[in-house]
Amino acid sequence: MTLTRVFHVDPLNPDQSVVEYCCEVLRSGGIVVFPTETVYGLGALASNGEAARKIFIAKGRPADNPLIVHISKLEQLYEVAENMPEDVMKAVSVLWPGPFTVLLRKSPRVAKEVAAGLPTVAVRMPAHPVALRLIDCAGPIAAPSANISGRPSPTTGFYTLLDMFGRVDAIIDAGETLYGIESTIIDTTTKPYKVLRPGAVPIEKVAEVLGQEIIVPEQARGLGEYEKALAPGMKYKHYSPETPIILVESTSPKDAIQRLAKEYIEKGKKVLVIASRETIEVLRGCTPRTTSYGSRHNMFEVARNIFKVLRELDREGVDIAIVEGVEEKGLGLAVMNRLRKAASKIIKTTS
Ligand code: TXA
Ligand code: MG
Repeated sequence: MTLTRVFHVDPLNPDQSVVEYCCEVLRSGGIVVFPTETVYGLGALASNGEAARKIFIAKGRPADNPLIVHISKLEQLYEVAENMPEDVMKAVSVLWPGPFTVLLRKSPRVAKEVAAGLPTVAVRMPAHPVALRLIDCAGPIAAPSANISGRPSPTTGFYTLLDMFGRVDAIIDAGETLYGIESTIIDTTTKPYKVLRPGAVPIEKVAEVLGQEIIVPEQARGLGEYEKALAPGMKYKHYSPETPIILVESTSPKDAIQRLAKEYIEKGKKVLVIASRETIEVLRGCTPRTTSYGSRHNMFEVARNIFKVLRELDREGVDIAIVEGVEEKGLGLAVMNRLRKAASKIIKTTS
């Protein structure tokens, strides 16, 4: 068990002494949980392989699943990566700081443990004052999401406490994150560019900025064979609460959800329906318990709530959750990727 120091800071104006303390922890080879605009990260210095190993142990993460390197200024990109294509430089100048991660050729200055032995490195510049100040002080930070491997990514400091207390040297709690879903990862090492993981920047936006089409493979939609995963992390089961989830992908979800809920209730099961506000409105009175992830007309809200809803599910005391899918447009692509990976069963209907 590691002694964990917990700090609460103002997300916009963090106490400089906390930043300096955590910077010193990182410099001396420790690991620190810090907020980003997407989800919380668990960081170590990107140049320190020994410290990166501690991250894998703290998370119970397989050693073949590489970490994202976080930078705070463009110059640092040249420290961690090589061979930056012209169009990628243009895209990052628009999308950074922000939830956009690019896969590039790795520089030898990034520890091999961080890239899990791969010749590539995933890099992003987070848009969060605490993360930026910490990186400014310590240098590039390698960080996966700060959850125990397999659990939903943490969107609040409290969730990182539940997963990481006693496993890390420090936790900086700055409240709830803005997007609540991880960054969009694009592989720019080969053309045409492809999505490795859809995330908080819609693919449509990335394609527009890059001025070219981006391939969306089946795996990026949360479909297809895990063995053929593009990003090593995508072959593992993810975001999964203990409670089994049935995902309903339907053009008229209300009827499918109602039918399924009835079926399980008749079998004596306790059911929770997780759906859009609009669907819950029309289901009123038909199922005993419902939770909303937001409006189906506001994917920002749905993306922001989805991990929270998945995390809370195991505390609901139900046997099964029936979840309404969303349209795979804009942020809906990222939401469906997470829901399909969390689901134990997917039911598709056209009516
Ligand atoms: O928003 C985010 O991206 C958050 C915050 C903390 O920045 N980070 C995050 O990291 O979600 P993580 O480790 O939970 O997910 C990173 C994903 C994994 O699926 C990993 O396999 C993939 O990125 N990845 C990292 N480096 C890679 C590489 N060199 N090649 C292919 N995939 C890579
Ligand atoms: Mg993760």
